[in-house]
Amino acid sequence: TYVVTDNCIRCKYTDCVEVCPVDCFYEGENFLVIHPDECIDCGVCEPECPANAIKPDTEPGLDMWLKLNADFATKWPNITVKRDPLPEAKEMDGVDGKYEKYFS
Ligand code: SF4
Ligand code: F3S
Repeated sequence: TYVVTDNCIRCKYTDCVEVCPVDCFYEGENFLVIHPDECIDCGVCEPECPANAIKPDTEPGLDMWLKLNADFATKWPNITVKRDPLPEAKEMDGVDGKYEKYFS
C-alpha cells in the first residue's frame, strides 16, 4: 500500500484524490490518509503530490504512518474531488516535524 506522510500536514494539496482509481483517500482537517485495505498499489498518486508526501510502505521507517493511515481511514470521510490547498500550504511545505508540532 501507499501511505500519506508528514509533509501533507497543513498543505493538503488534494491533487492525489483526482488520480486514484479506487477512491481510497480520506480527509481530515489538516491532511489526508490512504485506506491501506483499499489501495491497489498502482502508484499513480505518488508523483502527483506537490509536497512529495505519498510513499510506498516498503520504504523504511513508515510504520507509524501506516498505522495512522489505517486508523484514520476508518474515521474520516472519503474525498474524491480536488479542492483548494490549505491557505498556508506554501509556507508549510517542507517544514520539519509537522506531526509533532501540528497534529492534534
Ligand atoms: Fe490510490 Fe493507487 Fe495511490 Fe493507492 S497507490 S492511493 S490505489 S492512486
Ligand atoms: Fe496531501 Fe499531497 Fe494529497 S499534500 S492531500 S498527499 S496531493
